[in-house]
Amino acid sequence: MAIERTLSIIKPDATRRNLTGKINAKFEDAGLRIVAQKRIHLSPAQAGQFYAVHKERPFYGELVEFMASEPVVVQVLEGENAIAKNREVMGATNPANADAGTIRKEFALSVGENSVHGSDAAETAKEEIAFFFSGLELVG
Ligand code: CMP
Repeated sequence: MAIERTLSIIKPDATRRNLTGKINAKFEDAGLRIVAQKRIHLSPAQAGQFYAVHKERPFYGELVEFMASEPVVVQVLEGENAIAKNREVMGATNPANADAGTIRKEFALSVGENSVHGSDAAETAKEEIAFFFSGLELVG
């Protein structure tokens, strides 16, 4: 199996409730290594740029406002099939549809305030990691 890297964001609803450690434990328990991590406060412009792919969606404004409302933790997770594995650990976008034991089932408040983001494919993972981290910050 391939060793991959994926971009993860612990969102403002989770940092606000002091859940960073509990969420990181879920990643580590699933065999994902946190190989880079920082806590930042996105500007609305930065959040808008990161989520530009959703620009035409009705929830875009709400999403950008939420992501810039309070600090987030951005991180790079590494492991076998890390992209799919992380999506499994996160659970469905809407916590109402998420499986038991997933991060979103346990912690998310709503489809908007859903505690975590994870890259959805290899190409997006590469772009999203480069959005937040320089090569020097990725020590493996
Ligand atoms: P994420 O995985 O970060 O990717 C896009 C985000 O848009 C998604 O998680 C949700 O937080 C958000 N989103 C998706 N659908 C809706 C919705 N119907 N209303 C509000 N936010 C949404």
